[in-house]
Amino acid sequence: KRLVVLVSGSGTNLQALLDAIAAQGAEAYGAAVVAVGADRDSIAGLERAERVGLPTFVCKVKDYESREAWDAALTEAVAAYEPDLVVSAGFMKIVGKEFLARFGGRFVNTHPALLPSFPGAHGVRDALAHGVKVTGCTVHFVDDGVDTGPIIAQGVVEVRDEDDESALHERIKEVERKLLVEAVGRLARDGFRIEGRKVVIP
Ligand code: GRF
Repeated sequence: KRLVVLVSGSGTNLQALLDAIAAQGAEAYGAAVVAVGADRDSIAGLERAERVGLPTFVCKVKDYESREAWDAALTEAVAAYEPDLVVSAGFMKIVGKEFLARFGGRFVNTHPALLPSFPGAHGVRDALAHGVKVTGCTVHFVDDGVDTGPIIAQGVVEVRDEDDESALHERIKEVERKLLVEAVGRLARDGFRIEGRKVVIP
């Protein structure tokens, strides 16, 4: 299976996918990353792709006269690589109707909280501020909401009294990277069906 991964930052989730595929071989893992896209320039996530010779592309909202035009450009940029699955690994933009029309049902996102709790761009900060004792991460299919699509996998992370946002986020990311690698591999190897809110992996 062909994966296109979208990043916006350090790209450690992308790196976990690249490392797993390199270690297992694309055959055994069931998928290979064929390109990496971003919504901004010169981020570590793009360097991680360039380091292994993967094609990269950048689609910046400000380069387009409308959000819809950006969405169309991103859709075309991803479609050029003919992905079976698109993975948002810390991609911090909400895609639009055209992208979802093209890749909905095979667009996977990872979120650093136990959805439906704490959706949005500050899930770790919001969980900490709320005073939860456990939080975690969620791998889910993207639908037309924000972090609302059918859940594929979740992992639990305890919150410690001394945690600040970055310490907690780093501990979540340790679980998240494993969760994403495992979930994407299963989807790629075993196939899947989405039945309402349920994801069925035979
Ligand atoms: C991940 O925790 C992701 O869930 C969140 O931002 C982080 C991105 O980390 N949206 P990285 O860029 O994969 O290191």
